[in-house]
Amino acid sequence: MATMSGLDGVVVAETILSDVDGEHGRLIVRGAPIDALAGHVPFEDLAARLWQDLVPDEHGQAAAPRLGAARVAAFMRLAPLFPLGAALPPLDGLRLALSGLSDDEALPGHLMVTGAVPVALAAMLRLQRGEAPIAPDPTLGHAADFLRMLHGTADPARAAALDAYLATVAEHGMNASTFTARVIASTRAGVVAAVVGAVGALKGPLHGGAPGPVLDMLDAIGTPANIGPWLQQALHDGDRLMGFGHRIYRVRDPRADVLKGVVARLRTGGDARLDFAEQVEREALAALALHKPDRKLDTNVEFYTALLLEALGLPREAFTAVFAMGRVAGWTAHVYEQLREGRLMRPQSVYVGP
Ligand code: ACO
Repeated sequence: MATMSGLDGVVVAETILSDVDGEHGRLIVRGAPIDALAGHVPFEDLAARLWQDLVPDEHGQAAAPRLGAARVAAFMRLAPLFPLGAALPPLDGLRLALSGLSDDEALPGHLMVTGAVPVALAAMLRLQRGEAPIAPDPTLGHAADFLRMLHGTADPARAAALDAYLATVAEHGMNASTFTARVIASTRAGVVAAVVGAVGALKGPLHGGAPGPVLDMLDAIGTPANIGPWLQQALHDGDRLMGFGHRIYRVRDPRADVLKGVVARLRTGGDARLDFAEQVEREALAALALHKPDRKLDTNVEFYTALLLEALGLPREAFTAVFAMGRVAGWTAHVYEQLREGRLMRPQSVYVGP
């Protein structure tokens, strides 16, 4: 029996949630291209679209007030866990905090976990800085309230930029964390277990863990004169350039340009960091084309994610957890779509041992 290492090309589900067209660099989320959604449709409304007619009692009604209520409920429910989570790296702390939820909360699981992510993350990051957590404000938007819970205030331009980011990354087909969530959902383990598993899958640098290392790479390169030599050395050493390459996209990841536009709007009046990053990007693409002429490697979502989240004043070790704040909307929608499909996921292995 042939093995399908990496499961390339294996179709495990039909979905109405998104279409990732890797040949043409197009991402469609519930019928609309991503550049028509991010920055135009608030994250809460996009979440409602993702959940619509998949999650029980979700028929496209406004999610913002219900997510506000979920943030308040999560803050009360999870407060005892914040100090434990704050002792861990942010994504591990988030995984711990979400494990404190159950599927029998007063609010439905998809709202509870989506509301809990910004609440737990902001509280734990504040505790790490020696500051007391700030309670959520249910009247604010999801992105604005996260920035307020984290920094004490929420500048509207920054809140709009974060909102556009959350929408950009909310859903992206059968990626590793979403597949994980669907496998867990297929056992009927519930929304919380599926999302906790997805957070675990997101941690690795081949999936969601790349944006912090993108900044580490920019810092290590340091100066324009060092870009070429640094990239050559890294490729010579067999290292992967963070923020480049994708399993599905054979052209530029469409989300990279959406986020590049958001960063450019946020960093008005010229910015040496963005100029430098663009130069690194250009030289990296040229170096990758020479290094792997048979494998089209282009910019992925994580490159400009790193610059955007840095511009928002977020700590780089928390970038992957901020990604989870958006992606949880997609994960939860997939959980319910998987339940509708109904079959336990159970592939096979080939025994090659003694
Ligand atoms: N830098 C250098 N070489 C690369 C890169 C890269 N960024 N990406 C792929 N390659 C090389 C591999 O080393 C491999 O070479 P080999 O055939 O000599 O072993 C070849 O290109 C094919 O790579 P695969 O591992 O088969 O590609 P795969 O589809 O499995 O990997 C991945 C995709 C994991 C994203 C990869 O491109 C990578 O590691 N990129 C860097 C990390 C990164 O940016 N991660 C974020 C991904 S976006 C997201 O998930 C949200």
